Amino acid sequence: MNTFGSKFRLTTFGESHGVAIGGILDGVPAGLRIDAEFLQSELDKRKPGGKYATSRKEADAVQILSGVFDGLSTGTPIGFAIFNANQHSKDYDNIKNLFRPGHADFTYFAKFGIRDHRGGGRSSARETAVRVAGGAIAAMLLGEFGVSVRSGVFGIGDLEARGLDFDFADESEIFALDKELDTAGKNLILQTKENGDSIGASVLTVINNAPAGLGEVLYDKLDARLAEAMMGINGVKGVEIGAGFKASKMLGSQNNDLMRDGKFSSNNCGGILGGISNGEQIVIKTYFKPTPSIFKDQETLNLSGENTICALRGRHDPCIGVRGSVVATAMARLVIADMLLLNASSKLENLKKIYS
Ligand SMILES: Cc1cc2nc3c(=O)[nH]c(=O)nc-3n(C[C@H](O)[C@H](O)[C@H](O)COP(=O)(O)O)c2cc1C
Repeated sequence: MNTFGSKFRLTTFGESHGVAIGGILDGVPAGLRIDAEFLQSELDKRKPGGKYATSRKEADAVQILSGVFDGLSTGTPIGFAIFNANQHSKDYDNIKNLFRPGHADFTYFAKFGIRDHRGGGRSSARETAVRVAGGAIAAMLLGEFGVSVRSGVFGIGDLEARGLDFDFADESEIFALDKELDTAGKNLILQTKENGDSIGASVLTVINNAPAGLGEVLYDKLDARLAEAMMGINGVKGVEIGAGFKASKMLGSQNNDLMRDGKFSSNNCGGILGGISNGEQIVIKTYFKPTPSIFKDQETLNLSGENTICALRGRHDPCIGVRGSVVATAMARLVIADMLLLNASSKLENLKKIYS
């Protein structure tokens, strides 16, 4: 499916080397101020370019096509497009008849029997620019309620941030959460790139000020929806909420978040209990694999099933978790916006406020 969300729904379209990518955002309440500058600035964060990302040059200028009048949402679908400009499709001619190891080439072909090999077509993370645009509009809605989402790169290869400084991450070229990771991480990425290789990374996302009560139990639990959102980002292989996998090694007496003086004393649950937000900070860690497209000769099969060698050209991110952190923020924003709308009718008293 190409649609994400229940009430705040983003449908995306487009391929890496097609004419354009874009989206339709449905369910945005009428009267929301649409800040075009903020929208573009969010896309600029994810934009390719620079030493630590793919050198593909795209302005990623977003054009709003519908659903906005006089700067306000009209309650009708917000359509938008980002035109592709710098495809270099010829770089992909030599992989037309073979499957890139680690990418989606084999599975797209197994499923559809036809594949747009240019830049990976629809399986390319170019599509995630649309998610970032949708997430930016979600952020405008969240801002009305004082809810904010922030992400930063927490780990690169074996390196890990010790401090968690989201303001620092916003300024870092690799969105690193502390100075040490920024310096060492940049060196590691460049070194890896020089070797024609790529490296994995992890991203920390926090959601601040989310009210208690978000999450549609039982089958749209908040943690389940957030995990689905993050796992749905290209290249993500794991997601943790709160103490995450470490909780499986703890005692109940260590893991439980006790309550005292009107608040929780700890946050091992990552702000979610029973699939519902508890009013604490929501904490998510997302684990990205290394970029599949690397510049080393690798064994693979061609379309006829014969052994061959994949020798790639083209431009690729050496560490997808870097730009992936912007996408993680967008996905969390989309989930929380959806959950705010869904939760609005959970109590009779809420409905009475509207209709009485
Ligand atoms: C922001 C971002 C940028 C990416 N850039 C590249 C890239 O330049 N080259 C590449 O091979 N994969 C890149 N990927 C990863 C692939 O899109 C992804 O590995 C592929 O679609 C296969 O899906 P899977 O890894 O989820 O199984 C990127 C992912 C993200 C989130």
